[in-house]
Amino acid sequence: MEEKKKVIFSGIQPSGNLTLGNYLGALKNWVKLQDEYDCYYCVVDLHAITVKQEPKDLRRRTLEVLAIYLAAGIDPEKNTIFIQSHVSTHSEASWLLNCNTYIGELFRMTQYKDKSKRYGESVSAGLLNYPVLMAADILLYNADLVPVGGDQKQHLELTRDIAQRFNNTYSPTFTIPEPYIPKSGAKIMSLQEPTKKMSKSSDNPNSYILIMDPPNVIRKKINRSVTDSLGTVKYTDDQPGIKNLMTILGNIKGMTMEEIEKKYEGQGYANFKKDVAEAIVEELEPIQNKVNEYLGDKSYLEDIYKKGAEKAYKVSYKVLRKMQKKIGFIPR
Ligand code: TYM
Repeated sequence: MEEKKKVIFSGIQPSGNLTLGNYLGALKNWVKLQDEYDCYYCVVDLHAITVKQEPKDLRRRTLEVLAIYLAAGIDPEKNTIFIQSHVSTHSEASWLLNCNTYIGELFRMTQYKDKSKRYGESVSAGLLNYPVLMAADILLYNADLVPVGGDQKQHLELTRDIAQRFNNTYSPTFTIPEPYIPKSGAKIMSLQEPTKKMSKSSDNPNSYILIMDPPNVIRKKINRSVTDSLGTVKYTDDQPGIKNLMTILGNIKGMTMEEIEKKYEGQGYANFKKDVAEAIVEELEPIQNKVNEYLGDKSYLEDIYKKGAEKAYKVSYKVLRKMQKKIGFIPR
């Protein structure tokens, strides 16, 4: 008998245009894991509305994120690719889990603390409850593994706590998921303030590379990226800008930090920056071309997300029913 594959769940928010951080920290690893696992890759549009979204931009970006999944190499025949709002079990399970989560736990989340500072008075209740929806996403599929960047580690820990609490309060229901955080690329930094994370919601476009940035824009942004006056390509915390560019180059080219240091010894930064830019262009250009092809075939995309939602609903509904029953709801 064929052994049952372990399950992966992961998602990206269509809350802004995707960055090189999303690609190296998450998406690239999803592609690597797809043969070994039974994977659910979701466009998490419900998460995106925790901050204000222009409806037409949200629509456009949701399809673009889906096209980027495919263009990056996620095979729709092997994986379940879907849009979160199409599968109503996520919102339903989220409510059930909200009633099993303490607000103290949510107020402690660093991402909530950072984001709520930015939005001041107009922080939505959704922003606070966001990690519970993420827990619902993961637990509804009994995911074993969740490939994410380092910034999601705390949310994963909360997911494990919520799952454990539910299992203890009722009876074993959920698999306790493990994070999969890559050794290289878990935290790609801003090109302008390299001590901060590269983020799709930054106000400064020079701080990030978008997956869809044209080659000349990529070259310009890398050229303008903040470095230092030391003039040596060295992997050290004293040179956060250079360290970040080395991480990017190493990740794309499969080079170790020592190899990069050696290659650019005594050369200053110009050549190094040029090579970083070319590596990114080489990696992203084929993806961009495919994204544009997919976006030109909306009915193909529709076919994929409809099939994906059907499968996702079937699987997650069983788990939701189990939750409802254990909580004490009368079956309909
Ligand atoms: P999101 O949309 O902010 O980011 C998507 C993925 O990209 C990773 N990432 C980065 N990795 C390295 N360097 C960076 N600068 C960088 N920026 C982002 C993130 O860690 C993430 O893996 N809450 C999640 C989405 C989500 C989810 C889920 C993930 C919702 N439900 C269930 C996993 C499982 C988020 O906001 O990711």
